[in-house]
Amino acid sequence: MRPKVIIDCDPGHDDAIAIMMAADLTEVLGITTVSGNAPLDLTTDNALLLAELVGLNVEIHAGAEKPLLVAARHAEEAHGKTGLDGPVRPAVTRSSASSDAVRFLIETIRNNDDVWLVPIGPLTNIALAVQQAPDIVQRVAGISIMGGSAGAGNVTPTAEFNVWADPHAAAIVFNAGFERFLMAGLNLTHQFGIDEDTIVGLREINNPVAIFAADLFDFYLSSYQKRTSGQRVPLHDPCAILAVTHPEIFTFEPRTVRVETEGRHTTGMTVVDERGWDNQPLNCQVGYAIDRDRGMNIFFETMRTYTAE
Ligand code: RIB
Ligand code: CA
Repeated sequence: MRPKVIIDCDPGHDDAIAIMMAADLTEVLGITTVSGNAPLDLTTDNALLLAELVGLNVEIHAGAEKPLLVAARHAEEAHGKTGLDGPVRPAVTRSSASSDAVRFLIETIRNNDDVWLVPIGPLTNIALAVQQAPDIVQRVAGISIMGGSAGAGNVTPTAEFNVWADPHAAAIVFNAGFERFLMAGLNLTHQFGIDEDTIVGLREINNPVAIFAADLFDFYLSSYQKRTSGQRVPLHDPCAILAVTHPEIFTFEPRTVRVETEGRHTTGMTVVDERGWDNQPLNCQVGYAIDRDRGMNIFFETMRTYTAE
């Protein structure tokens, strides 16, 4: 049985790969978009483009165009002006189903059993949904996010972009009481990086989706190597999908995680309590390890399923 998921995203190069993988490995009930890597109109256009590319015939609902309290911030340096720089953009024929992602999230969770929420961008839509409909917290099968870190940050020394972009939303979500909360943070996703060999492998598969992914990675990898000394660029968002479909390739540990919203140097930090004291509410399963080889094999198997038209 493929798990039922709703993907909340801000495409974004790694969001794109997560959608490509989810379309094969899960039953996607819908996609909601949020301001993050790029402004909302671009992340929504990108989600529409990606759904059409992989033949995913689901509704796409636009959500929050800004965070709950802080100003909207983006990641053009990593994803380019369009949020999906690199490939030649195919024409998009579809439109978003609504601009009310929160209503879609609430209704879809209320009308379907065993739904996994998979947010891979800032958590603004999810926070608004749990505030408006607290009942959805217990109703979902679980939530699997890409966000935070049990180690260093990326946009600041301590904060990861998705949590930093809307720390107040993240605090609401981490404190909401989800029984199954999987956190794929930077300490984990940096173990799941792609490099030039990955791009060569995709071009050898040579179907439209694999070629689009290779063109995405050409930009994503070179942009990362210009800004860091890294040889591999982390494939962050697919970890949140794989945590639901292939938990056996991960190591998760129960932790108390709180989100800093007021620190002068630490706003957006996920404060992961590793002291192991037993009087703490363990609100999150924090990812500490992924078997990269097995994850990459699953990625390539998925990409091979997209036959050339
Ligand atoms: O910090 C990595 C996260 O920020 C990923 O979700 C990436 O897409 C960006 O949104
Ligand atoms: Ca993302």
